[in-house]
Formats: sequence, structure tokens, C-alpha cells
Amino acid sequence: MKLAEEHVADILSDLVGNGVSSRDIERPPNPEHGDLAFPVMGVAEERDPRSLAEDLADEFPETDLVNAVDVAGPGYLNFRLDSSELLDRTEAQLRSDSMGVEQRDGKVLVEFSSPNLAKPMHIGHLRNNCLGDALHRILDFAGYDALSENYLGDWGTKHGQVIYAYKQFGSREDLVQNPMEHMYDLYVRINQEADEETQEKAREWSRRIEEGDEEATRLWEMFREFTLDHDMEDYQRMDIRFDRITGESKVAEEAEEMLREGLENGYLEEDDDGSVYAEFEDLPDVVLKRSDGSTLYLARDLANIKKRELEQFDRNLYVVANEQDLHFKQLFRLAERFGIGEEMDSQHVSYGYLNIEGQESMSSSKGNIIEMREVLDRAEQKAERIEDREIDASEAVGLAAVKYGSLSVSRSKGIEFSWDRALSFEGESGPYLQYSNTRARSILSDANGTGENLGELTDQERKLVCELAGFPSAVDSSVEALDPVKLASYLSRLCEVFNQFYHECPVLQADEKDMRRRLLLVELFREVTDTGLELLGIEALNRM
Ligand code: ARG
Repeated sequence: MKLAEEHVADILSDLVGNGVSSRDIERPPNPEHGDLAFPVMGVAEERDPRSLAEDLADEFPETDLVNAVDVAGPGYLNFRLDSSELLDRTEAQLRSDSMGVEQRDGKVLVEFSSPNLAKPMHIGHLRNNCLGDALHRILDFAGYDALSENYLGDWGTKHGQVIYAYKQFGSREDLVQNPMEHMYDLYVRINQEADEETQEKAREWSRRIEEGDEEATRLWEMFREFTLDHDMEDYQRMDIRFDRITGESKVAEEAEEMLREGLENGYLEEDDDGSVYAEFEDLPDVVLKRSDGSTLYLARDLANIKKRELEQFDRNLYVVANEQDLHFKQLFRLAERFGIGEEMDSQHVSYGYLNIEGQESMSSSKGNIIEMREVLDRAEQKAERIEDREIDASEAVGLAAVKYGSLSVSRSKGIEFSWDRALSFEGESGPYLQYSNTRARSILSDANGTGENLGELTDQERKLVCELAGFPSAVDSSVEALDPVKLASYLSRLCEVFNQFYHECPVLQADEKDMRRRLLLVELFREVTDTGLELLGIEALNRM
């Protein structure tokens, strides 16, 4: 409810004579006490907070929005809002282009997904994709010029392995028929034959890729294409869009260059065997180039910071699991040392592991990974029937379950994903949000005419208006925390209040005035949830 909070904060600032911001305005834990509260203790300085609160309550002018001001406890001001005025203002705010969300400036890169070649995306990519995509949507909505990038793991010694394996036991026919399966088979098989000779042959092929040898390049490009085709199907299915697809290969040369520069300037050390590494005072050392001359992942990330800075990004965000926390610490430290990326705010948007109950039982036979696709299939299958109800749009509902399940916990924490919880119509779940939105859509499609703010709001309606007004702050908090969880939990709370309203306040059967006013609430609820769901990457449905 930032709009009311700002209104109250502005008046308080004038009265107190020092900056009170909307952030200082709280919501009383017990709504009976008021709609908003201000703890006077924070600004009382030498004075007794209680008596200052009393003075402020006296001086507080009457406004259209604030009906009453009370003093409570050791120094709280409680404000009671005029619900009809709040509804008017909320309607105007939510129906503006920004819906009240603070509009930011700047060019932001959101890098996520970034799978490796020749391997299907696995369960680890599930949370990554959901998180990265939602973040991209949210930042875009908050006014940023936000660009999503898929930075493929398409360079390095691994790729020589696949080529060598293909030359050894690959089949053109299998590859064309079932590319991902065949590439992954090759990958698994070659890794089982870990003898020195195999390793050497594989390294030989990586060298040939790096040197631009014709056959090696042709095969590498083919594997890259096949991988992308396969991954694109998953993105399409999940409604995930990338503004650009790049990869480690695109900065491989620049990485070599940076290593030379690093050695010249003494940022990096060289070992007797020719390998190049970095030392830190308080972080473990790290190798950037092996003795065989091949460069590592970190070197390419470093070169990429330079590239993104040249592209004039103001913010550079990496959505990558917390297993790589150390990698990003080392990366950012090295960038500082090289004096690159100073104009750009680079951040590792780290997140915890997603564990799905019963995942062992669905693990694909070979290679011991659970493909992301298997999880999506299972979600769709489970969504065909929820709580004894046949579901029309099981694909969209299954996806909603998986996406909400991946977003509904703070990103720093791991998730124990439970199918029962994710596919429930009670409490926090994707299908629950979709269902509430569908309910509003169906009321609106049966209604004659549109809503209007007439008559007096009941307590239940008032509660709903207060929740609706909270939409912009929920988005703002997600932007600030770089975490869709704030918006996700807000939407669940909002749906809960809407469903109480739905059960207590008849809409289409009510008298004209009540009907029109409630219709307006239903319209606003639909608009907020349409947008909110879209920002989380969840499809809103007319029927389910
Ligand atoms: N391809 C890497 C992997 O699968 C993830 C890349 C993350 N992004 C980055 N700029 N390092 O582990």
C-alpha cells in the first residue's frame, strides 16, 4: 500500500521536520488497531515518544485518505484510512502504465540457464530457469532495459571428449534421429573410459577445436546446434525467452589475451609447468590456464566482464547456483585487480538447491541425472487431476506448480519440493493462484457492465482493497532483493483474501451498488493477478 504510506509519510515529514519515508510506515500486526502505523520512537530523540505521539496526533491534518489517528502503546501512531478514497486511489494507481511500480533506469543483463553442450538440462536447471526468467520479467516491468542472456558452456576440454567419443563409437544415424540422447550416451561412455590414452586423444580434439581445425570445428558446431535445438524445445515449453544466446566460445580468444595481460602486469602468476594461476590473500588460489595451454572457465568469465562493460551494461547479473559462490568471489576480485567492470555493478544471484521428493525413482537410467524434461512431464501428468477434479489445461497447470514451487522460497534457501504441496488448491501453490484468477475471470464474463466505486465498503472488501494496494511494493521488494519470492508470497496472500471475499460477499447476486463496487474489486484483482502471474512466468487461464 505504498500510496497510502507515502501520503502519511509526507505529512509526518512536514510535522516532524525531518525525513520520514514510506519505508518507516508499518502495517499494524492487528488490523483492528488501524491500517497503518508509525513508531514515533525512531524520531523522538530526547523527547518522550508517547507525548510526541500525542502532539503529532493532534497536529495531523484531516485528509481525504486518513480518517482517524490514534496513539497507542509507548509511542505508536495508528492511522485509519478512508476505504472508499483508498479504493479510488488504488484503482487509479493500478490502472496506470507502471501500476505504481517505481520505474528504474539502466541497462541490465540477466544471465541465466547457460547449460553445457551435449548434455540435456537437468533438475538443477529447473530452479535456475524459473528464477532467471521471472527476474528478467520483473526487472523489465520495473523500467529497466533488461536483457536476458543464455551463456552456453560451449568451450573447453569437455567438448574434445564428445568429438573423440563420436569418432570412436558414434553413429551418424543415431545422432540425427535422437541427437541429445546419442550425444549424452557418448559423453557418459567416454567418461567411463578414463584412461590416459583416451584423455590424451580427447585433449588433442579440444586443441583442434581451439585451433580452428576444419573437421573439429564442423563437429563442434554440429553438437552445438543439436544441443540448442533440444534446449529450445524446453524453453518454448516453459515460455522462456532469451534476448540473446552467447557462449564461452565467444570470449575464448579474449580470455587468452587477458591472461597475457595479467601476467605482464603481475596480476597472475606462472608456474614452472606453464600453468597460470591467481593468488589471493583470503581466498583459495585458482588456476586459469593449465600446463597443456588450455584455458579455464574462470578466464572466460573474466574476459566476458570486459565485454559486457563495453556493451555499457549498468548491471551484470548472474543467476547461478550457490555451488559457484567461490567462483564468483574469485571472479569479481580478479576483475577489480584488472581494473575492469568498474562502471558496472556485477552480482551473483545465488540460489540454493532444489530437491524433489521421489526424484530418485524417476532418475533416467544412464548417467544418473534427472532430466528437467522428466520433471516437466511428471508435473503435467500429475496435474491432470487435482483433488478429485479433472483439469483442462494440465500442461499449464503442471508448469505453474513447478514454477511457483521453485520461486516460493527465498533464493538463498534450498527447497524440498513436494508434489502434494505444489499441486494443491489450498495454500501457496501455482494452481491455487491460477484458480483464483480464473474465478475472477468467470465472474467478470458473467457480469453485465463494469465495476464502479459506489456505496460503503464492508470490512471484507476493505481488507481486499488494502491487499490490492500492496502490489507495487511487492514488486519493488522483489526488484530490490533480486528475488521473485516477495511477489510470489504477496500473490498468495492476495488470493487468500480474495477467496475469503468471494465466499462472504456475493457479487452478481448483490444489489446494484454493492454489485458494481464488488465488480470493481474483482476487476482489479484480475488485473493484479494477470500481471503478477505473468511476471512469475505463469500462464493465466480462462478455464481450468
Ligand atoms: N555452464 C555453466 C554450468 O553449467 C554455468 C555458467 C554460469 N555462468 C557463468 N557466467 N559462469 O555450470
